[in-house]
Amino acid sequence: MSSRASGVSANDLKSTWKQRRLSSAPADLSGVWRFRELLPALNDGHVVTLREGNTPLYEMPQCARIAGVPHLSAKHQGMNPTGSFKDAGMTVAASFAHHAGYRWIACASTGNTSASMAAYAARGGMRSLVLVPEGKISWSKLSQALDYGAVTCQLRTDFDGCLRLLQELVLRAPVHQLNSINPFRIEGQKTLAIELMEQMDWQLPDHIIVPGGNLGNSSAIGKALLEMRDLGLISRLPKLSVIQAEGANALVRTLREAGGKRLIGVNAETRATAIRIGNPASWKKAVRVLEATGGACEQVSEVEMAQAKAEIGAEGIGCEPASAVTLAGLKKLVKQGFVKAGESVVLILTGNLLKDPDFTIEFHRGDLFAGTPHESTMTALSTLRRPPIVLDATLDEVLRTLEQADKTAPSG
Ligand code: F0G
Repeated sequence: MSSRASGVSANDLKSTWKQRRLSSAPADLSGVWRFRELLPALNDGHVVTLREGNTPLYEMPQCARIAGVPHLSAKHQGMNPTGSFKDAGMTVAASFAHHAGYRWIACASTGNTSASMAAYAARGGMRSLVLVPEGKISWSKLSQALDYGAVTCQLRTDFDGCLRLLQELVLRAPVHQLNSINPFRIEGQKTLAIELMEQMDWQLPDHIIVPGGNLGNSSAIGKALLEMRDLGLISRLPKLSVIQAEGANALVRTLREAGGKRLIGVNAETRATAIRIGNPASWKKAVRVLEATGGACEQVSEVEMAQAKAEIGAEGIGCEPASAVTLAGLKKLVKQGFVKAGESVVLILTGNLLKDPDFTIEFHRGDLFAGTPHESTMTALSTLRRPPIVLDATLDEVLRTLEQADKTAPSG
């Protein structure tokens, strides 16, 4: 990818990006295009933007205490316009698709990519085709694709099956594929890391922890870190670690059982439907990023993930299940001594709490794992659960409930 950064000093880049915060031009209001020197060149007139990026970096004091680290923050990519980190890559991929004059753009998705692509297609005046696994994506994500006007096909297969079919489709039909193997998506997603460093005043954290599904995001963050180091924007690399769900642990197995040399695919199964992926497309890039930054790759159980999600929620932040693997993974990395006392950590929260309300409500009601082997373990999480209370509409009933609740300490 050609970049416009070569020959410009690191300090000039930093001050240009800062100054653009004062501008009201659409490309400057975008937290992605604001960093356009590190993106492939495109005339501003072609930018399809929803003011993506500009996502908050939150302090997480309660979660830090729980995980046993002195300083923990979370970059919440779920605060993007369609509620997930996908928007940062999608604005770039959709802009270039628009520039190239494509009529149809298409993706296979576990839900977030499709929601994002459908929105940007609509903004750019393109049609969109979405292939999702039937019954295995959340209603919130499905409803977004429908409302944004995508032609949405629920295929009787899993994500991997949807992606395979898309590869065949693009050979037969005039549709342009926008999955994360599309290099423009990766370029856009790099800006997450650039914005993070800017928010930290270019003081590096020791660790960045990200969930791993199809592994596009870890690849993009890794690419950004290397480019920033080469441009002198940062002086060293934070360790980038990837966390997967135990039931969708292709990268973990690939590293442990094949030394990262060949992909060990799995039949993915997890309630974190966003990362229910058995054959991650970008596994080679992710292996290279882990090697380059010295990061770790871990897996967490369904219960560990559910607990971490409730803990992130109790901090007033919240995220979707796939994002919560980061906190669950951090706890493991601390116990293993990989994250050391005194080191600073940033979690990348990839999706908004509202993306998967079924998971959250089932957790708080206590029936998330009903009928599964995890059922008994759920009782250990009862202090985190806040089930809704159905009452008669009388003052007495509400007052009694308030008094009872006041006697129990909040969790966290
Ligand atoms: N977190 C969320 C909320 C996701 O939606 C995804 C992927 C990931 C993490 C994993 O990121 O694939 O770059 O390693 N969702 C894709 C989709 C697959 O179709 O929405 P990754």
